[in-house]
Formats: sequence, C-alpha cells, structure tokens
Amino acid sequence: MFKSRFQLGIRGGNFDFDKSKKFVVLHPELDSDVTELAEFDPVFVHRSFPAVKRFVSMGYEHISQIKGDFDFAVLHIPRSKVLARHLIWLATKLAPRGTILVDGAKTQGIESLSKEIRKLITFEGTISGAHGRLFWFQSSGIFGSLEAAGPACLPDGYWTQAGIFSADGIDPGSALLAQNLPQSLTGRIADLGAGWGYLSQCIITSPKVTHLDCIEADHAALECARLNCLDDRIAFHWSDATTWKSGQKLDAVVMNPPFHAGRSANPEIGNSFILAAARLLKRGGQLWMVANRQLPYEKPLTEHFIDFNEVAGDNRFKVLNAKGPIVSAYH
Ligand SMILES: C[S@@+](CC[C@H](N)C(=O)[O-])C[C@H]1O[C@@H](n2cnc3c(N)ncnc32)[C@H](O)[C@@H]1O
Repeated sequence: MFKSRFQLGIRGGNFDFDKSKKFVVLHPELDSDVTELAEFDPVFVHRSFPAVKRFVSMGYEHISQIKGDFDFAVLHIPRSKVLARHLIWLATKLAPRGTILVDGAKTQGIESLSKEIRKLITFEGTISGAHGRLFWFQSSGIFGSLEAAGPACLPDGYWTQAGIFSADGIDPGSALLAQNLPQSLTGRIADLGAGWGYLSQCIITSPKVTHLDCIEADHAALECARLNCLDDRIAFHWSDATTWKSGQKLDAVVMNPPFHAGRSANPEIGNSFILAAARLLKRGGQLWMVANRQLPYEKPLTEHFIDFNEVAGDNRFKVLNAKGPIVSAYH
C-alpha cells in the first residue's frame, strides 16, 4: 500500500516536507492515499464522480485546472496505462518546479511504468514493498509526449478516448445486450454506467423512447457519449449511478454494470447498480442488463425484483431481464 511505502520514504529522510509545502494528489482511490498527507492540506484531482464526491465529503478540495505551482504532486496510478502516463504529464504541469511521486501496486502495472519513466528521467529515489513501488523525480518539461490525446473517431464512427472503458470499440457484452433489447422500448429510460454511449445510441434509435438519461461516473467517457449520442431526447449526467435520482420513475433501465471499484474487482458495485435500477423503475418497469457469466447477480436480482430470467447468453456473458422492482423501505 502507498501508506507503508510512503512511511518508509519518510523514515528514510527522503522528502523535504514542511507545513509551507503545497501538495496535489492525483487519482486517489483509498482514503489513506490522501489522509497520509492530511497535515499538508492537499488538494486532489480525479475524473471519477464517486471519487470526487467521497474526497470532497472528507473535506478535501477538488481542482480541475491544468496549471499550478505545487511543491509535490503525488500520483496513484490507475489501471489504464494511457491514463497513468497522462497523469504523469499532468503532475508535471501542476508541479512544474516540484517533486513528482508516483505510486502503484504491481497489479496496476507500476513496474513496467517505472521502467518506462526511468528511461526518460533520473529518479531521485524508489521504494519497493507491500506489493508495489513508489518512485520520485524532479518535475521536468520533457513529458509532453505522455499527454493523452482527446477523443478520437474509430473507423466505425464512434468517438472514444484512450483510458475509458472499451476505448478500442464496442464491448462484446454490450453488443450482445443491444442485440437482445426489445424493439418496443418505450418512454423514459436510463442507461446506468453509460460509458462512451454505445448502449445509449442503440436505445435512442427507438422512436417510442421519449427521454433517455445517460449516467456515467468517468468524465472523459461522458464527454465521448455526448459526441456519440446526438439527440435532444438525451440528458447526460456526470454522476454516481448508485445514488443518482430521477425526477420521474422510469419505464426501463438498461446497463452493463462495472465490476471494478477503483483498483479492485468487486461484484458489489454491480449489486448496487441492480438496487439503483429497482429504485428508479416504475412498478411495471423492466431492467435489461448484461454481465460476465461468472458474476453472481442472481441473488440481488431475486432480492430486488419479483421475477427475472436469462434471455440470451454465451459462455462469456448473460443477458438478464428483470421485472417488478421491489424496493424495501430500508433502502
Ligand atoms: C462495463 S462499463 C459499460 C460502459 C457502456 N455502457 C458500454 O456498454 O460500453 C461500466 C461503466 O460504468 C462506469 N461506472 C463505474 N462506476 C460508476 C458509478 N458509480 N456510476 C456511474 N458510472 C459508473 C464506468 O466508468 C464504465 O464506463
């Protein structure tokens, strides 16, 4: 964990910290990613709405500008290598005369990133341990090539951006769900975890859909969805699908829920999406979802819907249709 590597670094007298120093933390996922630095009153940068909400509620300030003059930029690498490289570039913009600390788990790819960056700049130090690595170097203007490109159009006409879910093209699970959506989708619909908008643009082809809410946590993905789904019936929401509220109950929810929360695989997030769908639907409303075959969503579907069944599937995915939302007074 960052905490133990960071504390090792401090005990080794590696960092010249004092209360006058300004810190920015990029892409914290765990509370300890920020609280370890709490005495320096750090600000943070994140593009995921639930993360922004959580750290703001803990009292930290979120910034979205690209320029700064921080003394230290502490970066927690995400799973996407393109995004990790981009965040290194961003860290050097936010702390152009400061020290950049990059931390991550081996499972996140910190070792290969460390090798790549070491070819570009001399490290001031590196600490390996607790299944990961922390390395640091003096900021420099040489990282321009690591800045991720903005949205780009794929050969099939969809706009995506490196680092977002399924940036290389249509996710096969979502394709299977789209093939099995009823022609009769009608009324008010929500796409929970809409990504770059593949399912949304399938849903909106139905003229009977009167309104579609496209809810996505990743700001960059939502910006791509705006480019892919040009229709006045769609409203885009940078929000947490598990807590998002609709002004009116919905006729259908369509979703390919995430199964990662931050750094780790976690089916619980899918369970929260199922509960959210039940909460959002009208009594006669229906949920259409796709999931990896091994994910155990039958239990939450039984808890939150009167009935559900598998309408299509293969050895990788299952398409599930649930009817009759049950929302307990305790939720
Ligand atoms: C499996 S992907 C599906 C994306 C898109 N629907 C598609 O079919 O390509 C799940 C999406 O949910 C988003 N996501 C994760 N947690 C979320 C949350 N709490 N609220 C809203 N979206 C979330 C992810 O950023 C990702 O884009």
